[in-house]
Amino acid sequence: MTTPKRIGILTSGGDCPGLNAVIRAVVKCANRRGWDVYGIPYGTDGLMHIAEGRYDLKSLLLRDHGYDLPGILQGIDVLQFLSGSILGSLSKGHPEDPAVAAKIIEGYRLLGLDALIAIGGDGSLDIIYELAQKGRWNLIGIPKTIDNDVPFTEKSIGFDTAVQTVTTALYDLTFTAASHDRVMVVEVMGRDAGHLALHSGIAGGADVILIPELVSELSPTVVNQICQKIAEMRRRGRKFALLVIAEGVRGEGGERIKLVGDYLAKLVANRSGALCQTGDHNFCEMDQVETRATVLGHIQRSGTPTASDRLLASAFGRKAIDLIEEGRYNRLVVWEAGRVRSKDLTEVITIIRDCHSRGICPGPVETDSTMVKVARSLGIYVGDPTTLPEKTVHDAVDIWQAEVKLV
Ligand code: F6P
Repeated sequence: MTTPKRIGILTSGGDCPGLNAVIRAVVKCANRRGWDVYGIPYGTDGLMHIAEGRYDLKSLLLRDHGYDLPGILQGIDVLQFLSGSILGSLSKGHPEDPAVAAKIIEGYRLLGLDALIAIGGDGSLDIIYELAQKGRWNLIGIPKTIDNDVPFTEKSIGFDTAVQTVTTALYDLTFTAASHDRVMVVEVMGRDAGHLALHSGIAGGADVILIPELVSELSPTVVNQICQKIAEMRRRGRKFALLVIAEGVRGEGGERIKLVGDYLAKLVANRSGALCQTGDHNFCEMDQVETRATVLGHIQRSGTPTASDRLLASAFGRKAIDLIEEGRYNRLVVWEAGRVRSKDLTEVITIIRDCHSRGICPGPVETDSTMVKVARSLGIYVGDPTTLPEKTVHDAVDIWQAEVKLV
């Protein structure tokens, strides 16, 4: 038995399914070692509020089976089923005010923590890393995001569930699309990365998948190619089409578009009609094409975590506790080739910052990845392979593939 430890845990950045399953795993593994786990409410804001004396510290102590249901249902451990975060989460930038940062650091000290486990995405891990450096915290990071764009990990918590949610939505839209011969455009989350759109698009039977790594903007050429694809399908008797677009794909002039699915639906409707009028008979049937857009929005961030996310959460939570037991701090827990491993957090954050400063996503879809090849092989339109976006995502991948050290 090692010396009992006091662990803090917080969730930061946008929520996603599986956060509670990580918390559950951490508490179970820690309690079995006789360690205490303190749940910090609302990310680093909680530490600030602890410093301000707003919490009775004992009330923050998390216990295995501390969330029991009443009556006969007592004893059911609901944490691995529930989405959201029992701790609440925080989406804020770096604390600009040094007084705020000092308070957050003081909160860690007051709790008397031996280590802090932060479950976050690329942005929030960067913020917490900076505070940890200032406060000399023993930090362990666990990656979560439905965008799956944290570098060095093949999987982040929440991604698999979001893929399932979007895949189900595509199935549900298929029959109404077919009944009305409509082109259904489905806008999927993914501000900078297209993993979610790509994976769910393939699994959900999409005909077109647009992700920022492969199609940076909805240029007239891209829209023409999409219309061409729809025309070809219609000629073969498939009257409806499913188009999946990641929210990070830009407008015609390279600008960010608020409802890019709606924007694409209008472009396709207008262009197909115009193509017929200019005498291209392939598109004449498309003159009657009706488009509809669905924005899946935050529904992708909720829903009961899939078995795969629960397993990942359990494995990540256990690894975090193991790292603390071994005294190996400043590490990011990652998934690589079927194994849980860890990566030096300083290296990860250096790459995240470098990519952000150059406007590149730190964990993009690689343009020659297996799933991109699968999509192309299935005849799904994912953009013209000869005209990849100028600011190539290979930059990010090259940077971090150069010196990966996983343990
Ligand atoms: O970072 C994950 C993400 O799901 C993005 O894909 C999306 O743009 C963003 O969160 C929206 O977050 P919020 O509405 O919470 O600011």
